[in-house]
Amino acid sequence: MLGIRRLTSDDAETYRAVRLEGLRLHPEAFGASYETEVEQPLDFFANRLTNSTVFGAFEADTLLGVAGHFAPTSLKERHKATLFGMYVRDTARGRGVGQMLVEAVVADAAAQFESILLTVATANDGARRLYERCGFETYGIEPRSLKVDGVYYDEALMYRRLDG
Ligand SMILES: CC(C)(COP(=O)(O)OP(=O)(O)OC[C@H]1O[C@@H](n2cnc3c(N)ncnc32)[C@H](O)[C@@H]1OP(=O)(O)O)[C@@H](O)C(=O)NCCC(=O)NCCS
Repeated sequence: MLGIRRLTSDDAETYRAVRLEGLRLHPEAFGASYETEVEQPLDFFANRLTNSTVFGAFEADTLLGVAGHFAPTSLKERHKATLFGMYVRDTARGRGVGQMLVEAVVADAAAQFESILLTVATANDGARRLYERCGFETYGIEPRSLKVDGVYYDEALMYRRLDG
């Protein structure tokens, strides 16, 4: 039975393992890098679970995937959330876990924000389809947004209104 719940600092260890797996296996899918986060103490991950909102998808006690949202610090941008850290473990894909996570993030963000933004590599067709299914639209492309081991990746900028 699949379930989604918000992660707390008590989940830091499991979250860290899944987060680092995603960064290591899919460097082109995230702005953050494995090399930087693997050096961080457990508190870094516990603080992220406190300072931003991260949901986990579980089957029994096994964490299958994660996604979250955070708010900008600038006063003039506090109506906008950003979806970040979307990752579903390889063995759990193609079962709707990604969609459940995006829907949980969107529903939670809708209670506090007017819109939600994200970035996704233009070549990541599966993730782009997932976001489109969840109501996100592409409003631009940033050429050469990420550079990983000398290779450039364009990113699609996506947006969804949350206020009706
Ligand atoms: C992108 C990602 C999060 C998708 O996660 P997921 O759990 O596989 O997502 P879903 O299961 O909701 O959707 C994936 C596909 O399975 C299909 N699907 C969902 N439930 C299904 C079911 N019960 N039976 C059959 N197919 C199903 C969906 O229709 C979708 O099909 P599509 O790819 O043809 O559009 C995952 O592949 C991932 O973590 N990739 C690596 C990291 C990454 O790219 N992150 C995004 C950064 S922006």
